[in-house]
Amino acid sequence: MEKIVSLCKRRGFIFQSSEIYGGLNGLWDYGPLGVELKRNLKNYWWRVMVHERDDVVGMDGSILMNRAVWKASGHEDTFSDPMVDCRVCKTRMRADQVIEKKGARQCPNCGSKDLTEPRPFHLMFKTYVGATEDESSITYLRPETAQSIFVQFKNVLEVSRKKLPFGIAQIGKAFRNEINPRNFTFRSREFEQMELEYFCRPEQGMELLEYWKEERLKFYENIGISRANLHVRNVPNEESAFYSKGTYDIEYDFPFGRQELEGVAYRTDYDLSQHQKASGKSLEYFDEETKQRFIPHVVEPSAGVDRTVLALICEAYSEDEAPDEKGKMEARIVLRFHPRVAPIKCAVFPLLKNRESLVVKAKEIVDLLRPCMTVFYDESGAIGRRYRRQDEIGTPFGITVDFETLGEKDPSLRDTVTLRERDSMKQERVKISDLLELLSMRIA
Ligand code: GAP
Repeated sequence: MEKIVSLCKRRGFIFQSSEIYGGLNGLWDYGPLGVELKRNLKNYWWRVMVHERDDVVGMDGSILMNRAVWKASGHEDTFSDPMVDCRVCKTRMRADQVIEKKGARQCPNCGSKDLTEPRPFHLMFKTYVGATEDESSITYLRPETAQSIFVQFKNVLEVSRKKLPFGIAQIGKAFRNEINPRNFTFRSREFEQMELEYFCRPEQGMELLEYWKEERLKFYENIGISRANLHVRNVPNEESAFYSKGTYDIEYDFPFGRQELEGVAYRTDYDLSQHQKASGKSLEYFDEETKQRFIPHVVEPSAGVDRTVLALICEAYSEDEAPDEKGKMEARIVLRFHPRVAPIKCAVFPLLKNRESLVVKAKEIVDLLRPCMTVFYDESGAIGRRYRRQDEIGTPFGITVDFETLGEKDPSLRDTVTLRERDSMKQERVKISDLLELLSMRIA
């Protein structure tokens, strides 16, 4: 992890939030490459979960909502973790992080047995809306995006005219005042979720819970995470919410252990029923065929953007060897991102920066590709070093404009370039006129 964290900072994937002021625990900023990686992930999720399906529509809800939402959903009363303090080293930890040795509770930090009893620690960030800071103006930063979907269920149903089963998808920020943010961005206090609420008839719930398993595993494979590093954990009843009829987590083998990327839960009709009861507004579905009126059930695949970005980086990180200018093998760090998620798709290099004709040609190629993909132009340093810099940030393709491109050596090679593939380091000669189609296919 240390190597990954250091690469993330060095190359501009992830920085500590407010770093120049000493940071703020559990909060992170994405730099120029991190933001591209994150957008590619979110865009692909949206493409697969919304655009490529007839039965899902999207929405984008506000982060602050009426406090009544959080009362009805149960978050105001129950969204807390039991917390324990060590009286010796002052470490605060979740109760499940306390070590049990021979029946005695022990601090995982200093080993002391002088610990407080567990106390509930509320995870929602409280804030005030409007000019007065009193009980009537309290609300919370949302701890999940799901609730805005539930409370807009009727509006979305009416405008989209979907029939069950159908889903509403959302990507957005969520906030939790985690007791122990840790493992880099894995457990943060501000993060993004990609959530789908898939509404169905009560009798379809269990079947759909199973259906989403393969769909979601395929998603992770399609962004470059190998199936061997993914695991499905059935969450035992005592760990899942009381209203859930079945929950499983999709876990990934991070360097710090096997941990949850996504939770898929069959939430029954709990949320819609709660909001119907509390708001007094009907959230029922009317089935035109059977003339039945009922509250739909829901299956929810809920994934973390930041955790998936971290998994993508961990999965991609590797060290191998590549030849330097003189053919001597040297160590290289390479991020083997799937081209679909790679922040920069292609780098363009004129062989020499002081040959005007090479530079002009290279810039023409940049202009040709840029409307369709992220392109990085680099003319400084030896070509091998330029390749290495791109390998380290996971750019899958490198294009070199050389004297053959200009037709100086062999007229039949005029307007061709070398296209280098990051992982195999193989180079092929390609016509400039074929580049756009060829690369677009490989990054789709
Ligand atoms: N609406 C259901 C829900 O929020 P959750 O299991 O609490 O369920 C869903 O969260 C996903 O959100 C998790 O699988 C994880 O990827 C992400 N997530 C939750 N808490 C997080 C945190 N503190 N930091 C980063 N990601 C988090």
